[in-house]
Amino acid sequence: MADSFLRFPKDFLWGAALSAYQSEGGNAVCDWYQWEQKRRLVPAGNACRHYDFFESDFDIAAQLHLGAVRISIEWARVCPREGYIERSVVEHYRAVCRALRARHIKPLITLHHFTNPLWVSPLKGWESSRVIDAFLFFVRAVVAALREYTDMWLVINEPEVYVYNGYIAGIWPPGCTNIGTAWRVLRNMLAASCAAYREIKSIYCGEMVQVSMPHHMRYFRQCPVSNFGQNALAAWCNNMVFNRYPLDYLARRQAIDCVAVNYYCNSFSAFKNFLPGECSCASHGLHKNTLGWHVDAQGLYQVLTQACSYGLPVYITENGTTEHADALYKEYLVRHIQAIHRALTQGCDIRGYLWWALLDNFEWDNGYGPRFGLTHVDYTTQERRIKPFAQEYAKICKENGISINA
Ligand code: BGC
Repeated sequence: MADSFLRFPKDFLWGAALSAYQSEGGNAVCDWYQWEQKRRLVPAGNACRHYDFFESDFDIAAQLHLGAVRISIEWARVCPREGYIERSVVEHYRAVCRALRARHIKPLITLHHFTNPLWVSPLKGWESSRVIDAFLFFVRAVVAALREYTDMWLVINEPEVYVYNGYIAGIWPPGCTNIGTAWRVLRNMLAASCAAYREIKSIYCGEMVQVSMPHHMRYFRQCPVSNFGQNALAAWCNNMVFNRYPLDYLARRQAIDCVAVNYYCNSFSAFKNFLPGECSCASHGLHKNTLGWHVDAQGLYQVLTQACSYGLPVYITENGTTEHADALYKEYLVRHIQAIHRALTQGCDIRGYLWWALLDNFEWDNGYGPRFGLTHVDYTTQERRIKPFAQEYAKICKENGISINA
């Protein structure tokens, strides 16, 4: 078998992502903490104690040859009260950024990753446009304090996932199941993203900075079992609502400088109760990860071609899986890197790739079962162990490409 090397463009950014609530631990001031109590869910508790161990965690990132780490800033810690900035917390995040820079790793900073301060709920959360101003107050303080460390901000992570889980499925806070409310919340989050874009630009006063919204994209395939025409229509509708609408909204208002894609899996579409949804048939020959998600690297290629159609640079700000066997992580990684390379060779302007996640971490309503990390975390001892497949990723990052058996 001949080996061929898939080379990536010079300066391609290789990295991994984390979010504050999922990794930091010790956070009793945000709405997720309250939600865990109310619903008696597995609590995030100490998570990976990344708030304390960020230095040694970034040593791991450096060992893996990562050029970027995506972090998020916990709004609830920075603003434990409305209109108030906790300076010591801002200093903490400055130290986090310095720790990355000291290791020649670029911080990509997210400003909202699914959690809100406790005081936001009585204001009706993102249902009320008042929250936009409160969020912008936080954004201004944080961006001004951290601007020297980064030129890339990711404002609100996956608004449509937040809205779907919290306002349609009701499985995340605030546990609402109302489409009208969901729509209002989505519009407020997108409006906040636009307003934050303008704030960030004005703070950088014309200096180079890229701002975007990490957007969850799925590849909507038609369910191959009967009703082909209808299923194709369901897939088209899902694509328009979930993939296109948020990006069209921001691109039309010139409120993103690049497209930030979070991609994990596909979704087989069909109509359910007259609405486009997901079919519940078998796996159609695709492997399912431990969360039951259909692994589909071809889907990444498809969503990248859509993302590139906006004529902006594209970053993959999350991609990853949770599996029982290391070989399956490796296979996922290799297939998805190949898909990116294929999109690159067809002219897509893709600039970076971040694996979700640097560490195993708290997976929201799924607790600590799923393990997405490059690094295994023992939650009792807080010991870290780099997983074997992560060594393969480190090689890709170091060599800026991947060898495959042709
Ligand atoms: C979210 C992460 C989450 C990951 C895996 C992404 O959509 O941004 O917070 O852990 O998916 O479910």
